[in-house]
Amino acid sequence: MSENDKKVKLRSAEWFGTQDKNGFMYRSWMKNQGIPDHEFEGKPIIGICNTWSELTPCNAHFRKLAEHVKRGIYEAGGFPVEFPVFSNGESNLRPTAMLTRNLASMDVEESIRGNPMDGVVLLVGCDKTTPALLMGAASVDIPTIVVTGGPMLNGKLNGKNIGSGTAVWQLHEQVKAGEISMHDFIGAEAGHSRSAGTCNTMGTASTMACMAESLGTSLPHNAAIPAVDARRYVLAHMSGIRIVEMVKQDLKLSKILTKENFENAIRVNAAIGGSTNAVIHLKAIAGRIGVDLELEDWTRVGRGTPTIVDLLPSGRFLMEEFYYAGGLPGVIRRMGDGNILPHPNALTVNGKTIWENCNDAPIYDEEVIRTLDNPIRKDGGICILRGNLAPRGAVLKPSAATPELMQHRGKAVVFEDFEHYKSRIMDPNLDVDKDSVLVMKNCGPKGYPGMAEVGNMGLPPKLLAAGVKDMVRISDARMSGTAYGTVVLHVAPEAMAGGPLGIVKDGDWITLDCAGGLLNLEISDEEMAARQAVRVQGSAPGPKTGYQQLYIEHVLQADEGCDFDFLVGNRGSAVPRHSH
Ligand code: FES
Ligand code: MG
Repeated sequence: MSENDKKVKLRSAEWFGTQDKNGFMYRSWMKNQGIPDHEFEGKPIIGICNTWSELTPCNAHFRKLAEHVKRGIYEAGGFPVEFPVFSNGESNLRPTAMLTRNLASMDVEESIRGNPMDGVVLLVGCDKTTPALLMGAASVDIPTIVVTGGPMLNGKLNGKNIGSGTAVWQLHEQVKAGEISMHDFIGAEAGHSRSAGTCNTMGTASTMACMAESLGTSLPHNAAIPAVDARRYVLAHMSGIRIVEMVKQDLKLSKILTKENFENAIRVNAAIGGSTNAVIHLKAIAGRIGVDLELEDWTRVGRGTPTIVDLLPSGRFLMEEFYYAGGLPGVIRRMGDGNILPHPNALTVNGKTIWENCNDAPIYDEEVIRTLDNPIRKDGGICILRGNLAPRGAVLKPSAATPELMQHRGKAVVFEDFEHYKSRIMDPNLDVDKDSVLVMKNCGPKGYPGMAEVGNMGLPPKLLAAGVKDMVRISDARMSGTAYGTVVLHVAPEAMAGGPLGIVKDGDWITLDCAGGLLNLEISDEEMAARQAVRVQGSAPGPKTGYQQLYIEHVLQADEGCDFDFLVGNRGSAVPRHSH
């Protein structure tokens, strides 16, 4: 420990550092867990913020993960305290896990600030758990390190690899097209999810794990080590050691989460072919820590970056192969060698810059981590669209889209909401052809509510049967990071907030121009105004719980990260008044 290290005043001393009534109360009840006196004598107290839940299957192995973090904390002279927070699992939680991302973030923020904690380890995995915990921690801003649960092993079906989520979309289209039986479809379930861990495609969970690593909030290799690989547990152990040092160095989250680190993450997202959901989550995290991030940053920093990671849904391989090929450090090395890493000197949690961490990272497989001049897509990144149909923006992921459709003009086939889509799409008499543009309304933050991942509408069965593989689709929804297609998402403002998406009619012409960043409804301003004037605004369906009401009233639009208006910002780590 350096002289500098010793000077940091521990916030936990405000609980355990006094020999009086308050100190008695704070220590005494803790001692009912069998904790000896010396644990309270000035050791850094490290929270382990655990999203373990058997209802979040992707995070169901986190108790074991936490044990390994604890070993590292003890080894470094810290005192670990594990605590649960709301766990939002993507696969089970209805109407959508996105609805409770902000709820979980509030839980995290209040748990950290209100408790004796000098540093915190965030155990994250399933899609929303990563942004929720980073958002909550950013609003407190104490030393923080991310440990991800890791991806599942490759899925298997009939001797071949299949990818989480992506296989479901593909197999379901095959059932609808009559190419496979329902028996075979159901039979694929177990092979699809073979081990502990998160989705093994470059879906939102893997994307956000890569975002956490490229933001500098985790140790190198955190994103890709498989959940069941012993090295995942070594990384957890090393993260436990490191967080104790970070407390001694007062290396707070705000020193890591700078604009430079966000710009690195945006470009890494392009290089890995990451999920569109990252646009919303990074904005929300940035808002909490006080970094100004705009949709146009995705164009300025991300567009034009080659996608060099050949993973589903954009490419061929899965996270297991990604790790064996060199993982995210390999990608960052390749970017740095090619002078396309925006900020090599950005600081990371281990106290080194991202370039110091990755400049000699080996790459073992150039099919999985391609060279910059042999990308799977030259123009990766997220395409930001604007126009009279999306005045506050919309997004499209070029690496998952059909190149020929990225410049397209077609007639709208409109669905008023998700239920209308589900009933109408099956109609054999639906007036639709391969050039039509499928438009779905009322699936945004307020409209669903919670902005569900329903934007990748399946194609009409009659077109699937005719061999059509992709069509332009537009909505105010999100889509799963495991999904693919020429899908325009996050249209803002959403229909339920009065956005022009709500006035589109069957047969309207729509222009999509990805290169020009344009999304236009081909009606005059007068016609637009006339339709808006007679528009009847509905309300979100279903039972509105107290939390859902709060959500609908306070959620910001997609371009602002879908945080609650009252949660944006860093409220600091000052210790609240005594409880008794
Ligand atoms: Fe949890 Fe995909 S459902 S990571
Ligand atoms: Mg997902």
